[in-house]
Amino acid sequence: MSKKAELKVGDKSYDLPIIEGTENEQGIDIAKLRGESGLITLDPGFKNTGSTKSAITFLDGEKGILRYRGYAIEDLAENSTFIEVSYLLIYGELPTPEQLTKFENEIKFHTLVHEDIKTILEGFPSNSHPMGVLSSLVTSLTAFYPESLDPNRSADKVNLSIIRILAKMPTFAAWAYKNEVGHPVNYPDNNLNYCSNFLKMMFALPAEDYEVDPVIANALDKLLILHADHEQNCSTSTVRIVGSSQASLYASISAGINALWGPLHGGANSAVINMLENIQKDGGDTKKWMAKAKDKDDPFRLMGFGHRVYKNFDPRAKIIKKAADDVLQKLGVNDPILDIAKGLEEVALNDDYFVERKLYPNVDFYSGIIYRALGIPVDMFTVMFALGRLPGWIAQWKEMRENHEPIGRPRQIYTGQGERKYVSVNDR
Ligand code: CMC
Repeated sequence: MSKKAELKVGDKSYDLPIIEGTENEQGIDIAKLRGESGLITLDPGFKNTGSTKSAITFLDGEKGILRYRGYAIEDLAENSTFIEVSYLLIYGELPTPEQLTKFENEIKFHTLVHEDIKTILEGFPSNSHPMGVLSSLVTSLTAFYPESLDPNRSADKVNLSIIRILAKMPTFAAWAYKNEVGHPVNYPDNNLNYCSNFLKMMFALPAEDYEVDPVIANALDKLLILHADHEQNCSTSTVRIVGSSQASLYASISAGINALWGPLHGGANSAVINMLENIQKDGGDTKKWMAKAKDKDDPFRLMGFGHRVYKNFDPRAKIIKKAADDVLQKLGVNDPILDIAKGLEEVALNDDYFVERKLYPNVDFYSGIIYRALGIPVDMFTVMFALGRLPGWIAQWKEMRENHEPIGRPRQIYTGQGERKYVSVNDR
């Protein structure tokens, strides 16, 4: 017999089905509760609300587990590639060699963007934040491929939109950077793999030869894998909710990019570096900054610490911390802010405030240090996160569409004025 929860309100009781996941997670299904009782559930920030059933990513925040389609993040980060992980997330299985080659070739075929997109780019002032430029260029694809607006198009056509966005996002990301620094853009080089092509478009200058350093390309590939999906976080929920209105894939991804931008989400990686630099300029006294983070009258938070879901450790942060050591050593970079970061972590992990609230370093704490060592400027860190998260957003949008999920539309408890009569302006 399937499990049920019983809710008692006054002298009435309601049976609510319990839904179980593959890993025995359990959720009370309240979909019919309002119809039967007039009651809604209230949970600001959706701290304890499941919005969907999903077969893409499993995350156990208490045990520090993260798996894409059943494969451990540690295994994928060590042995896979970002393109293979993208295929896995989007289509559900690891590709055969033939499927992988076909997927890579399809992506390479679509890396170029319409020349008119350069005109759009040129309309942005130099110094524009690359996240704003990126989301605008992604939305502009709806104008170049208007057929993508048709919610009833065939699965093949949807797949073409998927390939196009995967192929063009590195071009847009590199061009957003070129715009920021006021340099001419580079066109894609399809002899290179996904990350090397991106790095060349970003860093090559007209008058100089540019050879991609494999240490840098491999480190970036690993970082993108670690960011590729994270179930129903703020930006992914945004992608799903925008897509639930049958908005196009490009419009939904563009919304996800904007949701990612904030410092409490993907913007935290830039905020961490700014914070570490401030601590360094201030003399490196980590205890002083810890005290600020704990002071409720001070708005300062320790960026890169804490997570809505992880209450033990963030498995991505463990991998990234080790990768930061490896990359800095391989590139011969000695970055004093790595020592400040490690010092802060040590103090925090032994501090009652952080221990009681289960605040641990998250994925953004060390990723910025690697990006910095790779020569990527701070404003571009969140763009890197968006590049990594793209296959996750696509997979979640596709799943939502294939499951015919209803339009996302939460309820509220109204706390404003009761009904009152309008008074014309001269009588007020
Ligand atoms: N520094 C100091 N105190 C903190 C921090 C922090 N980084 N994070 C949480 N707290 C405190 C918070 O003040 C609260 O204390 P109290 O119970 O006394 O009021 C308690 O811990 C719980 O915090 P919360 O804000 O209710 O937790 P949340 O689940 O709503 O927020 C978070 C999660 C990630 C937004 C938050 O931990 C935070 O702001 N961290 C810093 C920003 C950051 O690193 N974000 C990246 C997240 S990982 C990448 C991603 O997926 O986007």
